[in-house]
Amino acid sequence: MTSETAAGNQRRQLHLGLFNQPLGRHVAAWRRPEFTGNPLDINYVTQLARIAERGKFDFFFLADSLVGPTPGATQRAGNLEPLTTLAAIAVQTTHIGVAGTATTTFSEPYNIARSFASLDHISRGRAAWNVVTSTWNAAARNFGAERLPDHAERYDRAREFVSTVKGLWDTWADDAIIRDKSAGDYIAADGIRELNHRGKHFAVEGALNVPRPPQGHPVIIQAGASDDGQNLAADIADIVFTAQDNIDDARAFSEGLRERARLVGREKLPLVLAGVLPIVGETREEAQAILERLEESSDIAQGIAQLSQRWGFDLSTYPLDEPPPPAVYDGNSHSDGHSRRKLFEQRARREGLTLRQLARVAIASRGHRLIVGSYVDIADDFEEWFLTGAADGFNLIPPVAPESVEAFVDLVVPELQRRGLFRQEYAGTTLREHLGLKRPERIRA
Ligand SMILES: Cc1cc2nc3c(=O)[nH]c(=O)nc-3n(C[C@H](O)[C@H](O)[C@H](O)COP(=O)(O)O)c2cc1C
Repeated sequence: MTSETAAGNQRRQLHLGLFNQPLGRHVAAWRRPEFTGNPLDINYVTQLARIAERGKFDFFFLADSLVGPTPGATQRAGNLEPLTTLAAIAVQTTHIGVAGTATTTFSEPYNIARSFASLDHISRGRAAWNVVTSTWNAAARNFGAERLPDHAERYDRAREFVSTVKGLWDTWADDAIIRDKSAGDYIAADGIRELNHRGKHFAVEGALNVPRPPQGHPVIIQAGASDDGQNLAADIADIVFTAQDNIDDARAFSEGLRERARLVGREKLPLVLAGVLPIVGETREEAQAILERLEESSDIAQGIAQLSQRWGFDLSTYPLDEPPPPAVYDGNSHSDGHSRRKLFEQRARREGLTLRQLARVAIASRGHRLIVGSYVDIADDFEEWFLTGAADGFNLIPPVAPESVEAFVDLVVPELQRRGLFRQEYAGTTLREHLGLKRPERIRA
């Protein structure tokens, strides 16, 4: 049972994250005449986080990849770097967690340990790190390589990376800083130790140059969907993001992950948060009208281009009103978004979708689950997923910004609160407290 509710109330409640989409996730959202948001304007991005904080969300999340747009391509691109952005947001908010993505494939543990330790100090205990291993070969070409390392190799490195980072966070005792003015001792003589890590991928002496984070260890998020990804999540993740688009698959995934976590002796099982794009209205008709308006200004070619990238070949010459052709699997198929492609393929098969219909899904959500309905419909859906073990909460991906976030906070959150499924108020101030997670003791040397 999670225990973030007011003292004495032990009822299990769901968790909510906001997956930042400053332009809205739907490809047509930014083209609405009334849209004025600018992803490079920190006041605008902070405003989105503050709306989520008004809705008592657990955290605000920034995704990341290390790939720029292709010259000639005209689709939307360009965002602020996650950690600097989250630091700015942290000082303009008081409770909401600040979660950022950093890849273990193109960084070193020392850099990541100090950045997230800093973010945890700046936010006074609200930082989370989304550990990813990178998906696109184009990222490798920005870091001196032609291709990503093999999938298994990336996850092997990720595992050692995370344990090294945790070790670095623990190189300082919690009470290492004593500021003894009379003795002239700023740090206790026994407050710091070296890490002296020597492993397969990293050699790190330590100590870190940032004191132990307020949360001990910032919260760890993981989203790997493959076998290796799930095994890593079972070992290290406090939160797992998933992209399952139907309740049966989501339940099977969540149960499988919990089982893996039990097998490695986890006391507190990872919280599984399902990605979802809600289009919310006071009524179903109102929600449907929002979607229809977006679809009117969408270009189907953008959806085909997105699917082509996942499929690994050009789909633009295939008939739009027939089922999509099978994707090609190469020997290293995990390295270019294998699991998301599988989701698309399964959905097309399950729902009998044509290529055009699948392209519409890509345009709206890039493969995540889209639900369109009244606030009661959305609350019913969340309640069913939550109570039947399909998810411990949701990572909200707003189709339209800022309106989808506002509608969710003003309509759905009160409905979830009325049902006792979501907190009325934050009970603590750190992200660990919101999530019902213990503060980890310093690992013994
Ligand atoms: C909600 C969600 C958010 C994600 N955010 C990122 C991200 O910011 N950067 C990234 O490289 N991958 C991101 N991923 C992708 C995963 O890290 C992972 O690469 C993908 O699920 C494939 O898993 P696999 O490599 O284990 O096959 C995200 C996945 C989900 C479901």
